[in-house]
Amino acid sequence: MARAWKILEGKKVKLRDLCEEDLPRCLVWLRDRGVTKYLDFDLINIGLVQETRWLKTMQSSPNDYIFAIEKENGKHIGNIGLHRINWRDKNCMLGIIIGDIEDWNKGYGTDAIKTILKYAVEKLRLHKINLHVYEYNPRAIRTYEKCGFKKEGLLREGHYYNEKYWDVIVMGILDRDIKMLYD
Ligand SMILES: CC(C)(COP(=O)(O)OP(=O)(O)OC[C@H]1O[C@@H](n2cnc3c(N)ncnc32)[C@H](O)[C@@H]1OP(=O)(O)O)[C@@H](O)C(=O)NCCC(=O)NCCS
Repeated sequence: MARAWKILEGKKVKLRDLCEEDLPRCLVWLRDRGVTKYLDFDLINIGLVQETRWLKTMQSSPNDYIFAIEKENGKHIGNIGLHRINWRDKNCMLGIIIGDIEDWNKGYGTDAIKTILKYAVEKLRLHKINLHVYEYNPRAIRTYEKCGFKKEGLLREGHYYNEKYWDVIVMGILDRDIKMLYD
């Protein structure tokens, strides 16, 4: 599928293509353990060169769509992406980070997710969006439930953090639920 510069308008946020100028800001977020403890990758020691390589891989991949999340005043507050798109089964994994704790709990995450879900079904024609979330992340679980995701299962003790194993909750949403919720 050909890539053109994309802007997706939500109610509170705008999603636009992530670009190289955004990366120094992303690195600050990725060095904050208060944020990264919720993510499934540990990039605390990553540098700009690796981060730039990662972005180029994302940009050239037909199976990944990565967006910067901007709030009303144009501030870049986080990233959201559809990853590992399986074009045969028409599903993918959702990932999201709002990097500055000050911007949490203000409805930006919910709006960003609803906006990308609409894009996933209307433009990419995906059937299902999946995600994994750690049991110690009730804010994210609540956010996903608000967006219509259902809990589908558990990867028992699938994640090790703080000297303890934690369950990984598997959640998903179907295209028909997205259409029903957001039409
Ligand atoms: C998870 C994340 C994307 C959510 O985005 P957000 O903008 O903070 O979320 P919203 O403001 O849209 O919604 C948060 C909801 O969680 C609720 N919430 C906050 N803390 C909570 C807690 N401890 N327990 C239960 N609910 C909680 C809020 O009250 C709100 O629900 P409400 O609207 O019914 O009141 C964002 O906080 C983030 O990026 N966190 C760090 C990285 C991360 O966790 N990524 C997801 C990995 S799976």
